[in-house]
Amino acid sequence: MKTAKIILDGKEYEFPVIEGTEGEKAIDISNLRSQTGYITLDEGYANSGATLSEITFLDGEKGILRYRGYPIEELAEKSTFMEVAYLLIYGELPTEREFQDFRQSIFHHTMIHEDLKRLYDHFPKDSHPMAILASMINTLSGYYVDSMNPLKRDQQEVSIRRLLAKTPTIAAYSHKKSIGHPMVYPDNKRSYIGNFLRMMFSVPAEDYEIDPVVEKAIDLLLILHADHEQNCSTSTVRLVGSSQANLYASIASGVNALWGPLHGGANQAVIEMLEHIYEDGGNTAKFVEMAKDKTSGFRLMGFGHRVYKNFDPRAKIIKRATDEVLAKMGINDPLLEIAQKLEEVALNDEYFKERNLYPNVDFYSGIIYRAVGIPTNMFTVMFALGRMPGWIAQWREMINNPKTRIGRPRQIYTGANQRSFVERSKRG
Ligand code: ACO
Repeated sequence: MKTAKIILDGKEYEFPVIEGTEGEKAIDISNLRSQTGYITLDEGYANSGATLSEITFLDGEKGILRYRGYPIEELAEKSTFMEVAYLLIYGELPTEREFQDFRQSIFHHTMIHEDLKRLYDHFPKDSHPMAILASMINTLSGYYVDSMNPLKRDQQEVSIRRLLAKTPTIAAYSHKKSIGHPMVYPDNKRSYIGNFLRMMFSVPAEDYEIDPVVEKAIDLLLILHADHEQNCSTSTVRLVGSSQANLYASIASGVNALWGPLHGGANQAVIEMLEHIYEDGGNTAKFVEMAKDKTSGFRLMGFGHRVYKNFDPRAKIIKRATDEVLAKMGINDPLLEIAQKLEEVALNDEYFKERNLYPNVDFYSGIIYRAVGIPTNMFTVMFALGRMPGWIAQWREMINNPKTRIGRPRQIYTGANQRSFVERSKRG
């Protein structure tokens, strides 16, 4: 077996080297502290593997993303979000029978408890829908006490279905609440996305036809967001879940982690930035200069990624889809032009080239969401809808692994040394 040697204080220690199925290598330091008394320090976990995982493979240098071995490009072209959800959670593409059973078992749970619905009345009208989503998902633990034990397989399964089924309902209701429209009950005859669109956009006074272009575009975006291995929100779900908190509590924590503008909140921030540039006269070079100036506090939202240092394969697919959707819907969005100009200026700029900063998944997704009528403050909720199967798959892998231990990083303390308490009257 290959090993790595570390010499500390003149003494040599050996640690096993492990290799993943795609050749990524790691030094297994599980026994580092017990053998040497040292720990590792890795701010932002940029070099630390938190787990072994069979779900998603990504190679940031080559721009590769695969779910359970299937390239994202193929899934985007040939699969559907529901099928991808099954694939991520259970490891294989479903047979027709497995797919229908899965679909039926989810649709059985699309409604939310009427009392939970009343909870919406207690949020101010302009509450951010991510605040509502996280609260509502957390609150599900109060309604489903029959399925709270994360260690029981049957309870896991029902919680998984409840979450997949109720998240679109919860999300659409938060939008209806914000515009003062009546909430629309789910319609289980529709597809997963069709049902969501109907709950978002239909009103009792009018007929509602689902536009297949819109349905397909949303399905594609959700597939592209469905998993991304150990990112900030997924690591949060795993960390919270490692304490054996129930699934709803673990996922609600993930929703909160996703909200930040450096993570899923970037899709909202991108559109706000493009609007700002547009209103400012459209001088993209000025904003690129500002992003390079560290004192400005401004970053080009939708640019850069911790892992992708070449290109983000999801961004490539979304960029193509954006052109198609806008053309099919006959929309001419000036923000698309700003985005294209910004991308061109940034990609030819030394600062961005040197740092390998490319458009990420969120750079173009907001333009599609805008085109299909999703309000800007719902963009991150759309990301959460897409990421739900990934969070669930990662949680399920973690909780069913007998080797899982509670996540508990260490630290290097840099504060004051021991000192004695001084009475307040004697301080100063
Ligand atoms: N605009 C300007 N400069 C940037 C940007 C940006 N968007 N992103 C990174 N940089 C610069 C940093 O200032 C730093 O420069 P330096 O080496 O001179 O100090 C260098 O590039 C490296 O950046 P870090 O912040 O160290 O990279 P990290 O991997 O920690 O952060 C992140 C990645 C958070 C995505 C970052 O690129 C960023 O803030 N991007 C904008 C927000 C965004 O789009 N987030 C969505 C990510 S995708 C997702 O979560 C779904």
